[in-house]
Amino acid sequence: MLMNCWGRRISNKNKLENRASSKKRIFFSPCFDISFKSLFQSAALVPCSFVLGLAVVCATLTSPAMGADKVELSVEMSKAGAKIDRNIFGQFAEHLGHGVYEGIWVGTDSTIPNTRGIRNDVVAALKAIKVPNVRWPGGCFADEYHWRNGIGSQRVVTLNPNWGGVIEPNTFGTRELMDFLDQIGADAYVSVNVGSGTPREAAEWLEYLTTDQPTTLAKERATNGHPAPYKVGYLGIGNESWDCGGNMTPEYYLSQLKIYSRFVRNFNPAQQDKQQMLKIAVGPGGSEAEWSDWTEAIMKAYEHHHWSWDLNGLSMHSYTVVKWPPSFASVGFGESEYAQILKTTLDMEGLISKHSAIMDKYDPEKKVALVVDEWGAWYAPLPGSNPGFLVQQNSLRDAILAALNLNIFARHAERVRMANIAQMINVLQAMIMTDKERMVLTPTYHVYRMYVPFQDATFVPVSFDAGWYTHGDVALPRVDAIAAKDKAGKLWLEITNLDPNQPVEIEANLVGITAKSAAGETLTAPKVDSVNTFDAPSTVEPKPFSAKVQSGKLILRLEPKSVTVISVEQ
Ligand code: AHR
Repeated sequence: MLMNCWGRRISNKNKLENRASSKKRIFFSPCFDISFKSLFQSAALVPCSFVLGLAVVCATLTSPAMGADKVELSVEMSKAGAKIDRNIFGQFAEHLGHGVYEGIWVGTDSTIPNTRGIRNDVVAALKAIKVPNVRWPGGCFADEYHWRNGIGSQRVVTLNPNWGGVIEPNTFGTRELMDFLDQIGADAYVSVNVGSGTPREAAEWLEYLTTDQPTTLAKERATNGHPAPYKVGYLGIGNESWDCGGNMTPEYYLSQLKIYSRFVRNFNPAQQDKQQMLKIAVGPGGSEAEWSDWTEAIMKAYEHHHWSWDLNGLSMHSYTVVKWPPSFASVGFGESEYAQILKTTLDMEGLISKHSAIMDKYDPEKKVALVVDEWGAWYAPLPGSNPGFLVQQNSLRDAILAALNLNIFARHAERVRMANIAQMINVLQAMIMTDKERMVLTPTYHVYRMYVPFQDATFVPVSFDAGWYTHGDVALPRVDAIAAKDKAGKLWLEITNLDPNQPVEIEANLVGITAKSAAGETLTAPKVDSVNTFDAPSTVEPKPFSAKVQSGKLILRLEPKSVTVISVEQ
């Protein structure tokens, strides 16, 4: 039964100074690990339910069409579902390696073109993908961050013990973050320090940020260049409080959550009735029993919560690593590693289903969002890089991995209303890599740009027999797809061909509309490990794509290992 096939996570309790070597987690999932033969034999036992998120899996298991050249899709325009919240395309920027320093901040004296110290090239690139929100300052860093070190003209120089023990100059602090967000047009998702801070410290930060009354903190903000209150869209109350955030039990964390939720207030007058700041609690980090216990504890407390504290989101972290410590290479790999990583990333479906089911018990109206605020591929550090800086390359495989996860989030749009890929620049599965004055857009960036039309669009169910792509003992659905209707009523379709060797012909039956034409973009490259480099930045880039309309159906020929987004003209 697929529902029982989720991964397992083991946390290393050792407190080592270097975070990169302290993390030991083991995920495994037999879901797609079992041999193709046994999977096929068990297919008849699996009940087929074409309920949104399960549609692909069920269809796959019942498909008799192994290796078929054609995949038929049925797109049900009349059965529109939930809104795909634009916040699922959120980003994460931690003070880690060159994620902030060099990636965003170069300083006002830099020869790299900048606006008040923030790189212009990076801002322009991020504006193009319409980043909805940025989570900052961490990660593990957040639970050691003291905001007063990062305000005013005299910054306090500290250390970053989590990430290589390097100097933290605090030159990028509150004002610089808010300026950066203003430049790219994104909301602030600020994580406050629960691990080594106090409720008072966090409450004062929010007062400094948001009050329009002439308090001492507001006057200090004005002296520091910003008389008007800032908006803070989202408040993260701690980070991984079960591990780097303080090794807390669910009960201990819950007591902290109630205190922070009560006292850390947003005073911005514009955020009282409308656009209220949403509070996000630390949630699970895997799928074993201990994580169910965590989700149960928080959600059970939420069910009968007193007026004096509240909760709007539960965070969940899940990286695609296969096993800890991360050992898969991010470049120079073959089909076997391609298939294994994609198999592992599809565990996200089971993980979300599992924790959503627990949340449904206590919050059937889905008031609390599941916020996947750390996700993405985590590979071995690039040879020669500082292992504490989490530098990895980004290949076509990552583009496909991103599309698969975004599709999973979209299928769970009712509950998953926010997600933040880790991390935005130069760290883990980044959108952008920089090297001094040079910048390159990664394959993952291109997927985010292609998916812009899905931001705040309405989910439209798609059903199909995915067929199989198999490599060794790994069997994966051959294709994945989502559809959505934008605010103007236009239909958008995304289809991923996971098979790295075979093209696939898609025949899409659009129930409820008559298509005249369809066109968009497709992203592929010569090899599964093709990357963009500073010297060859266009190896993996979207190309124009068009579909044929034949007897009222859309016919698309998808390249092997490709991500395609099209819109349909009626
Ligand atoms: O993204 C890197 C780290 O992974 C974050 O700091 C932490 O929250 C997670 O364990």
